[in-house]
Amino acid sequence: MPTFASALDDQIRNEFSASQQYIAVAVYYDSQSLPQLAAHFYRQAVEERNHAMMMVQYLLDADHGVGTPGIDPPKTDFADVVAPVALALEQEKRVTEQIVELVKLSREEGELVGEQFLHWFLQEQREEVASMTELLTVVERGKNDLLSVEEHLSRAAGGANPLEAGAPPAAGGAL
Ligand SMILES: [Fe+2]
Ligand SMILES: [Fe+2]
Repeated sequence: MPTFASALDDQIRNEFSASQQYIAVAVYYDSQSLPQLAAHFYRQAVEERNHAMMMVQYLLDADHGVGTPGIDPPKTDFADVVAPVALALEQEKRVTEQIVELVKLSREEGELVGEQFLHWFLQEQREEVASMTELLTVVERGKNDLLSVEEHLSRAAGGANPLEAGAPPAAGGAL
């Protein structure tokens, strides 16, 4: 398998690991009786799962082998209600770096079709880092008044992400 394709295959593992981490965060908030924060991260988990399946579809279309990798174990205990969002923001920044490295590799290898595929992920990462940064501000400000955080999220929920319209196809269909 060419280097770019195998690096993209590795990224499938990172996206599924991100998805599982978001499930762990959602379960933590659910256990703290914070349903809006939980719902937010259950949705994020599905988005990350879809990212992985878009990469699977790309590798299928490009006629490369696709691994179905295992995932890294998620962190499941948190010091306080702010910690999971701080962890999520770190994760989004790390994934941005991973996608940037993949773009660089695609350029080095003249894989322009692969590079074009990744452009959507660059936009998506910009949006996700921005929205997670905002959520961290909201949770830090409201850590002693968590109902205000829940209310903020219930008002913010339901807005369609315009990026979804231009998303690459996901293997088996996006959830
Ligand atoms: Fe992702
Ligand atoms: Fe993400």
